Parts: sequence; C-alpha cells; structure tokens
Amino acid sequence: MKQFERLAAFTANKMLAFRMKIDVLTIFPEFFKEVFDFGIIRRARLAEIVEINIHDLRSFTTDKHQKTDDRPFGGGDGMVMKCEPIFSAIEQIVGTCERENYPSGTKVVLLSPQGKPLKQAVAREFADGAKHLILICGRYEGVDERVNDALVTDEISIGDYVLSGGEPAAVVLTDAIVRLLPNALGSKTSAVNDSFTENLLDYPHYTQPRDFRGMEVPEVLLGGNHAEIERWRKAKALEKTMKIRKDLLK
Ligand code: ADE
Repeated sequence: MKQFERLAAFTANKMLAFRMKIDVLTIFPEFFKEVFDFGIIRRARLAEIVEINIHDLRSFTTDKHQKTDDRPFGGGDGMVMKCEPIFSAIEQIVGTCERENYPSGTKVVLLSPQGKPLKQAVAREFADGAKHLILICGRYEGVDERVNDALVTDEISIGDYVLSGGEPAAVVLTDAIVRLLPNALGSKTSAVNDSFTENLLDYPHYTQPRDFRGMEVPEVLLGGNHAEIERWRKAKALEKTMKIRKDLLK
C-alpha cells in the first residue's frame, strides 16, 4: 500500500478504531490473495473501517501431514473437514471455544448450503450488530458436525446451489456486510437506495450519451423535475420486481 493512499483514506475517515474485524478460516488462503484488494472493500480496509485476516487452517494442525480432512464415520463418499484445526483456530482467534463465553459481538459463521439464506436483511444485521466475524469456509462433503454443535453461531448459505467450497460464499458475505458499515461507501453514495432495502429491485440507471445507437434516455430523467423522477423510479422498480421477483412483494 502506498503511503499517500493510506494517509488520504485515513484522513477521510475520522473513526480511528477498526469498526469490524473479519477472520477467514480456509484451506485455500491463496484464493483470497487479491479479492479484498479492490473498490469499496479496499477503501474500507485502508480507512480502517474493517480489518480482514486470512488464516490457513493447516497452520492449526499438529500432525506431520497437516491433515484438515478425513473419511466419514459410517462410510460414504468424500471427505469431512476435521474439527481439531477449527477448534484450535477459534481458541486462538477468539480466546475461547465456549460459545457462551465469546465476547459480545463475536459471530462464528459457517458457510454451507445448509445455512440460513443470505438476504440483505441478514447482511444488515451483521453490519449493525457484529464486531468480530470469524468465517469458516467448509470444503468437501462437509464439516464435522461438532463444529456446528459447539462453535458456530450462524450457518449461512448464499443460495440454493452447491459450491465446491465456502470460499466464494465468504467473499460474497464479506462484501455484502462491509459496504453497509458506516462510512464504507463514502459521502457520495449510500446503501439506502440499494436494491432489496425496501424489498424492491433497483430502478434503471442511465448516463451519457443521451442517444446511443438510437436508444434514448427516458425523457423524464432529463427534465430536472425531482418529484417526477422519484415517481418514475419507484414505478420502474415496482414494474421490474413484479416481472422477475414477485416473491419479494409478498
Ligand atoms: N458452500 C457450498 N455451497 C455453499 C453455498 N451455497 N453457500 C454457502 N456456502 C457454500
């Protein structure tokens, strides 16, 4: 990071302490090498709104082969992620493996297709209520259930499909939360008008040129009548939601 970049971001943000800390547990730390180094997340890190640390689960193993998975009891396909490295990691990062003794605002999140579906309201709850998130990226056929039983406070799914691991889901969850943290979007933007905030999809946006290959920007947006523009945007958002996400309106 360049010195001036750090200074500029720091000056822009008057909050001195990190607002949120996110620790990610993964067997593929390389996956995260650059993914948090762009746009809003990068800015939020530079401005010390969020601190993100990636931990290699193998570094919490004690055996020679650094085994993080093993065959399932009872037989069956695939491998199951072992509980020991995950317990050790939580013990080291949180200070305890006893869920009832986690410091307030600590959330240990397991990313898995079995979890509660991630919605804007869920991201908002984490952004408003959590100070320290530990994201466990599951792999293979699953994670030893004792991790869920003893450590996890929230199991989250990013959708009804199966990824080969929780890593992309951890990125999605982190992004959805960090942009909601105070000052993360900067003064010019706000999350208030985001899609889903009012259970509606976003309205259409246009910029220059006014006429592109015969496709013109709607007249109403050019007139400067803000009340009329507001009405048009609301109507368009509703129309789009009705057309493709009727379920949101229920
Ligand atoms: N791991 C695998 N599939 C997932 C999903 N849909 N959401 C979160 N974590 C996952």
